[in-house]
Amino acid sequence: MSTETQTGAAGPKTTDFERVLVTSALPYANGHIHLGHIAGAYLPADIYVRYMRMRGEKVLYIGGSDEFGVPITLTALKEGISPQEVIDRYHFANKEAFERLGISYDMYGRTSWELHVDTTQTFFKALDDDGKIYAEEVELWYSEQSDRFLPDRYVRGTCPKCGYTNANGDECESCGAQYAAHDLVEPRANIPGDSSMPILKKSRHWFLDLPEFKEPLKTWVDEHPEWRANVRGIALGWINDLRARCITRDTDWGVPIPLDDPDAAKKRIYVWFDAPIGYVTNTRQWGIEQENDDTAWEQWWKNPKTRLLHFIGKDNIPFHAVIFPAMLMGQGDYVLADQVVGNEYLNVYNRQTGKSEKGSKSRGNMISVKWALDQFPRDVIRYYLCAIAPESKDADFDWDDFMNRYNGELCDVVGNFIHRSLTMAVKNFAQAVPPEGTLDAEDEALLAYIPEQVDAIGESLSNCRFRQAIERVIELGRKANVYFDGKAPWVTRKTDLDRTGTTLYVCCQVVKALCHVLAPFTPDAAERLGQTLGITLPEGGPEGGEDGWNLAKIHLPAGHALEKPQVLFPKVDPDVIAELAAAHERGEAF
Ligand code: MF3
Ligand code: ZN
Repeated sequence: MSTETQTGAAGPKTTDFERVLVTSALPYANGHIHLGHIAGAYLPADIYVRYMRMRGEKVLYIGGSDEFGVPITLTALKEGISPQEVIDRYHFANKEAFERLGISYDMYGRTSWELHVDTTQTFFKALDDDGKIYAEEVELWYSEQSDRFLPDRYVRGTCPKCGYTNANGDECESCGAQYAAHDLVEPRANIPGDSSMPILKKSRHWFLDLPEFKEPLKTWVDEHPEWRANVRGIALGWINDLRARCITRDTDWGVPIPLDDPDAAKKRIYVWFDAPIGYVTNTRQWGIEQENDDTAWEQWWKNPKTRLLHFIGKDNIPFHAVIFPAMLMGQGDYVLADQVVGNEYLNVYNRQTGKSEKGSKSRGNMISVKWALDQFPRDVIRYYLCAIAPESKDADFDWDDFMNRYNGELCDVVGNFIHRSLTMAVKNFAQAVPPEGTLDAEDEALLAYIPEQVDAIGESLSNCRFRQAIERVIELGRKANVYFDGKAPWVTRKTDLDRTGTTLYVCCQVVKALCHVLAPFTPDAAERLGQTLGITLPEGGPEGGEDGWNLAKIHLPAGHALEKPQVLFPKVDPDVIAELAAAHERGEAF
């Protein structure tokens, strides 16, 4: 169990927790995930859960596919296949891409699961019984040509606020404005074969009465002054201007509305209502599969000693910092998030124009996870995406920067230090950690720095400051290199073997610490290094265990056997980078 002290608006507060429940946004099963997704909602979450598992916390990491909604039915229409075929294709492709990248979900579920109908309808009914859902007749766009209503992206038009010409029926993707359907300017149907001018027609829909949750939402956000500014800002902006949200749609692709009402039969629950409930469904499924128990999930969602964290991109902030929490409050006994880690965007640096541009399908400038993994080991990708993670502002994927950071930091600083230390120890001290001998002030200083830096890295990770954490790992390598150069063991070896032994003893302790602290970021390299060092890294899991992070501070004893070091971080070749950058520019990286 861990204790954290936070200073909040309501005074200092201590949060004890026994379990850590982490979610990453459920990507739509409507396209392949790309590096922009990874840098925001997935890699930071994975680094966090790997760290928490090492700490011996009980951790559950939940993800999955978001499989309802208009984007999916539109793809199906365009390709002349069923929505089920669309989601099967992308669900399995994305699940595999996450696995290859080492995103270590405990459960990667699907919102199309039958179980999810039950969870979603339970949420809906609880809110309805509590009077937080009401029905209202609204005017919506309707295509006479296709004889159907035009929810969400089935209609396009000009945004009444900003003039964006590809705005949705009730929401503008460009400026974020929300409006009534009749405010959309120059509407047109957006269905394959139908771009007719729609008419307004009455339809009865169900609304979540968000203004009812204003006070508890405000109290909850006020309890978390430590949240990133972007999340707090967007949450408070919404809370100050809450409106009821329509949570049903005129479609047959979604969870049925659990009401005995003729109008409900032809409609479905809106995807943004059911999707976050998918976190709960997938936790239920985990309990059923792992523990054969359909109540196991309650320990994670209803026990106040759970620390819940959502990792998301910035467009998802209102849903995770306002709407879903309100839905949870409406159930009565659920925990609310302790942290909503909202990330900015990863853009793409265009070498032709020298400008940063948004990743987009039509520009063809996105890099799919699959393609990236066909080119590089996953550690390489994980390192760079963490080093430039868009935590407080947008970041750029830039090929030169990619090469320079990886080669210059991970290879030249950390990899090189580990390699030269272990090579010398293996060669000159019978494949074992040398005797400690007599420590001088520099030896003592570096040995004292190890636990300090291990704690500092842990603190950065606990605070979800992943860039800072990986910088601190590199810093440990840098200090160790300075020490190594100063002690010049390759020179002292010829004159003073005791002194050389002490130097390499100290170096071996840094190498061991590096092995532990690298594990959340570059798990493969850490595992290989662990083999060389003859140590097993703790993995932990939902059951928790010993604090394995602190093991980084315990010395390898003199005489402990070592294996010959392997290359941990093979350098990336500039010619290869040039070729890949060119392929990316040709739109072939997706
Ligand atoms: N599918 C959504 C997106 O890609 C995210 C859903 S997150 C969840 O933007 F909370 F709803 F699951
Ligand atoms: Zn707009």
